[in-house]
Amino acid sequence: MTDPRPIGLFDSGVGGLTVLDAVARRLPGEDLLYLGDTARLPYGTKSPETVRRYARRAVSLLLSRGVKALVVACNTASALALDAIVDEARGVPVLGVVEPGARAALRTARGVTGPAAGAPIAVLATEATVASDAYGRAIRSLDPSRTVMNVACPLFVPLAEEGWTENEVAREAARLYLAPVVAAGARVVVLGCTHYPLLARTIAAALPEGTLLVDSAASTAIEVEALLGTEGRRAGEAGETHLLVTDASERLRRVAGRFLGREAAALELVDLP
Ligand code: DGL
Repeated sequence: MTDPRPIGLFDSGVGGLTVLDAVARRLPGEDLLYLGDTARLPYGTKSPETVRRYARRAVSLLLSRGVKALVVACNTASALALDAIVDEARGVPVLGVVEPGARAALRTARGVTGPAAGAPIAVLATEATVASDAYGRAIRSLDPSRTVMNVACPLFVPLAEEGWTENEVAREAARLYLAPVVAAGARVVVLGCTHYPLLARTIAAALPEGTLLVDSAASTAIEVEALLGTEGRRAGEAGETHLLVTDASERLRRVAGRFLGREAAALELVDLP
């Protein structure tokens, strides 16, 4: 027996497509249903109450389309609203990106030796994720000896949505945001927002050579596979990807293609109450 229903993924915008891409590579047979709440983006500057309210509505729409599992492909929603999402999901399994990201950060940090081994793990994230200290809590619960420094990089989200990932504005923003990370000597830097992998090259260039960037997409995809188990997977030919958005513009279509590294599939416009 296999389960033909789609896996639902959700983000405030197109950032979660970096996670969708990793899941599609890992589980090519699965149908994927992605919802980007582009009309309400950004989530990262909003209050926890608002993020929880938006997340519940997004999840309820994906459930109404019959998904078999939910991937919260947004660090902000994972950090602030995971319990509300689990409650809304009524038994459908839910996976956020913070826990897989924290595990990946620790695996990477264990490979750092010498004097740099004691340096803090830096987490780059939205203001809301930073305020929640979700990564710090997740990392310290696995290894209490680790220190974590959170750095809010709010401008990276609009820069990624705009496609301005490798120009002077992006480089200057990275230089300013990352100055404290460089000063602290961090060798492991977590991209704690699903939009940030698009700026990975610019971020790496603003850090000392050899700094290791951690992106939770690949580790999340591995955990999705484990969550489904053999029986929960879909058998047969290549799966299909369907993209839902709450606001669709020409720019969004262009940028979605950039995140996916290929032409974006048709975008379906949906409304959330
Ligand atoms: N992509 C989302 C995240 O991973 C945040 C973007 C936003 O601020 O809406 O945190």
